[in-house]
Amino acid sequence: MAPYAYTLLRSQLFVSIPVPTESFSGQTVIVTGSNTGLGLEAARHLLNLDAAKVILAVRTISKGESAAQDLISSCNVPANRIEVWQLDMSSRDSVKAFAKRASGLQRLDAAILNAGVLSSRWSTIDGVEHHVAVNVIGTVLLELLLLPTLRRSAQRTGSKGRIAIIGSDLMYTADPTILETDGRILDKLNTQDAIPIGTYYALSKLLVFYAHRHIASTLSPFSPEKSNVVLTLATPGACTSEIFRDEMPFAQKVFMSVMLKVMARTTEVGGRTLVHAVSPSMGEGEHGKFLMDCEVATDGYGVESEAGQKMEKRWNEELFAHLESIAPGCTKL
Ligand SMILES: NC(=O)c1ccc[n+]([C@@H]2O[C@H](COP(=O)([O-])OP(=O)(O)OC[C@H]3O[C@@H](n4cnc5c(N)ncnc54)[C@H](OP(=O)(O)O)[C@@H]3O)[C@@H](O)[C@H]2O)c1
Repeated sequence: MAPYAYTLLRSQLFVSIPVPTESFSGQTVIVTGSNTGLGLEAARHLLNLDAAKVILAVRTISKGESAAQDLISSCNVPANRIEVWQLDMSSRDSVKAFAKRASGLQRLDAAILNAGVLSSRWSTIDGVEHHVAVNVIGTVLLELLLLPTLRRSAQRTGSKGRIAIIGSDLMYTADPTILETDGRILDKLNTQDAIPIGTYYALSKLLVFYAHRHIASTLSPFSPEKSNVVLTLATPGACTSEIFRDEMPFAQKVFMSVMLKVMARTTEVGGRTLVHAVSPSMGEGEHGKFLMDCEVATDGYGVESEAGQKMEKRWNEELFAHLESIAPGCTKL
């Protein structure tokens, strides 16, 4: 197995990401965090690939409306092909209300759960650390709550539904053993200074991958009962978006801007990977897998170590019990 640094450099400097070409004709797709960055570019690709409706799920409606205007003029599509819906991924009530609204859709073919945060500052929302609240708990809760709607729609249309979570290959740099504790992992994550703040983003992407893979393993779209929904998790690779919007120490800022200049993809290119992860041809080979450069990643790094697998099991037990307490019945969906 090549070292992660090699995998990263190879991916960023030498892999060219294919332009998506599969048609989304007649389909309805939700994209979270689509007022800017990768989500906005994914929405643009989807409209150009004939999606009948793209729902921009955004924290701030006015930002979503500006994004919709941008899409209408750049894709030359009628306004009724885009809807802007409010969604705050850090609020369990907002996630639940959004999923309930989505359950009223006649058709829902795919959802790209892209909204995410990266911060170098400690902050909590209702006692939950920010990365954990948005990148993990909000994302997995939304995935679970949207599943029945996608499944119903798939039964009606006869084609499989797709959900993609947007993760990060930085999860390969996370050390799962840092989560070791005699108590609950969530309590450790929500305690300031128990874990260095600089490690939270990568950890959050590892923890969402563990949860997503568990859901996929219990839900085969190819079993006799057929859930009819393919679940993928993709990394867009390093891209020049607003993800690094937070203040950071000067030296780190200089390092990041040089690194991004040398190797980052544009958000248009990164957006291709989001669309690929929910493309209609996603199937058994991709279900529950981590996609990098629009292919199933084969290197596991620490994610697949013995310690990683032990942590995965423990984390999933804890997380799903927690999600049940937030939205009773959600893990049975
Ligand atoms: N850019 C990269 O190099 C890179 C690499 C690997 C993975 N990713 C992942 O790709 C995804 C998209 O990131 P990006 O690069 O496009 O970053 P971005 O430009 O900062 O976009 C992030 C999006 O998420 C939204 N968001 C943040 N918190 C939210 C919340 N509580 N509720 C609802 N929406 C929320 C933001 O909305 P506001 O504008 O309202 O804040 C924005 O629309 C993230 O999951 C990120 O972790 C990015």
